[in-house]
Amino acid sequence: MAIRLGDDAPNFTAQTTQGPIDFRTWQGSSWVVLFSHPKDFTPVCTTELGTVAGLKAEFDRRNTKVIGLSVDPLDSHEKWEGDIADVTGHAVNFPMIADADRKVSTLYDMIHPNASDTMTVRSVFIIGPDHKVKLTLTYPASTGRNFQELLRVIDSLQLVARQPVATPADWKPGQDIIISNNLSDEEAGKKFPGFVKKKPYLRTAAAPKG
Ligand code: BEZ
Repeated sequence: MAIRLGDDAPNFTAQTTQGPIDFRTWQGSSWVVLFSHPKDFTPVCTTELGTVAGLKAEFDRRNTKVIGLSVDPLDSHEKWEGDIADVTGHAVNFPMIADADRKVSTLYDMIHPNASDTMTVRSVFIIGPDHKVKLTLTYPASTGRNFQELLRVIDSLQLVARQPVATPADWKPGQDIIISNNLSDEEAGKKFPGFVKKKPYLRTAAAPKG
């Protein structure tokens, strides 16, 4: 069954390149990006994993742990890591799940048989510290993902978790936010002095500091 926003992210145990894990224990109180790639020793995947490794400081700054997955075995992941460092200049610095028995990919519906019945698609799950699924994305094998976009979504999710706001199209941190429609104009005025009422349902304000 597909995993939907707001669902509890299913727990699992798995072998990874950084040792065996119980997913929830490994997560602790962090945010998590769980992402699958179709196959080891393939070109797009090589660029993706190097890119993610190069963004480690950005994920750390957001209290976010990253974990990859494919249905390849552990020794394959380990051998491939050398190539990734070689090509991209970034050593893989996050665990990669070896899901040869497809336990986790089946649990998270990462195999789409009409695309391929032997490989995982490029799935992404962002999971909050409350273990709820906050974002799902599915990309085809031929299209590498935009990991800056994932950082942008994490920034939005974390802001929205702290403040009664939403973020508009193409928003980036520091830009104006949208005030939640759960706030009356009076409440909005107290929390966001000088807010702009563009429409009764669209009120914007400078991004809150906290
Ligand atoms: C790739 O990562 O380049 C790739 C993987 C599987 C199918 C097609 C491309």
